[in-house]
Amino acid sequence: MSVPALFSLAGKAVVVTGAGRGIGRGIAESLAQCGARVVLAGRSPVPLRETQHALEVAGAEAMTVVGDITRADDRARLLQAALDRFGYVDGWINNAGSAAPEDVGPLDTIGEAQWDRVVDLNLKAAFFASQMAAHAMSRGGAIVNITSRSASYPNPGTGHYGAAKAALENLTRTMAAEWGHRGIRVNAVAPGVVMTEELAKTFNTPERIQRQVDTVPLQRLGRPEDIGPLCAYLVSDAAGWTTGALIPVNGGSFVPMGYLSYLNRVKRARV
Ligand SMILES: NC(=O)c1ccc[n+]([C@@H]2O[C@H](COP(=O)([O-])OP(=O)(O)OC[C@H]3O[C@@H](n4cnc5c(N)ncnc54)[C@H](OP(=O)(O)O)[C@@H]3O)[C@@H](O)[C@H]2O)c1
Repeated sequence: MSVPALFSLAGKAVVVTGAGRGIGRGIAESLAQCGARVVLAGRSPVPLRETQHALEVAGAEAMTVVGDITRADDRARLLQAALDRFGYVDGWINNAGSAAPEDVGPLDTIGEAQWDRVVDLNLKAAFFASQMAAHAMSRGGAIVNITSRSASYPNPGTGHYGAAKAALENLTRTMAAEWGHRGIRVNAVAPGVVMTEELAKTFNTPERIQRQVDTVPLQRLGRPEDIGPLCAYLVSDAAGWTTGALIPVNGGSFVPMGYLSYLNRVKRARV
């Protein structure tokens, strides 16, 4: 007797935004490992095509769609390209998000243009992409929003980013409530500090890293491959009774990176 796997994504087409690097690439790899057909989206073609190549070499079906997720026409083109190739979209992962170095700072210095860029990407784009995907999911589907531990805690230096992620978590629950009767599940995954190529450019002193690691019961920072397995599960039919869930994946640490740095700066200013 062979025991069937608990879940498989074979035959399911899943869109991942921001899939060329970091957590998004890790999510794409996990989905592919579970048999999904993966639609890789982002602005830079080269890392997307590299990810596509790696997935295809491993035997998965994948395609790349280049575009800016904050633009309504690019979002529509992304959905249409996925439908043209695979006929249906079963899953949509809103992963693209960040706060660029030029857009961060204490709340008393944040200007409207910085606010708009951060909130447009981390909240508005994720919401309207979800709304668009849900319209296309006529026989049901699953949406996963990648939020952040910053959604739930004070986040000096990136307060507007935390506020956008908090709003996305709240919307996740309302989307789950409004769309559940159509068979559409909407969940959020909230990573702690995940060491990506991008983060390593600024989060790069051994002392700073160790200070953060010291807050993690599992004694290490996250890796891009730590987030994808949960996303794959949430897209799968095995998660068929899970919606409106906000799930932390953070090694057990609930201390935000920005808060820790801020407290340290305050301490240094006092001595
Ligand atoms: N790393 C962490 O510690 C951490 C912690 C908590 C939450 N998160 C969240 O996890 C998600 C992934 O973060 P990450 O650290 O992996 O980020 P990352 O390394 O900076 O990657 C972000 C991805 O999003 C894409 N992207 C950015 N702006 C875009 C836009 N306007 N349109 C389309 N794609 C866009 C980027 O590609 P292009 O630039 O080529 O478009 C890139 O592929 C984000 O939502 C982030 O807020 C990360």
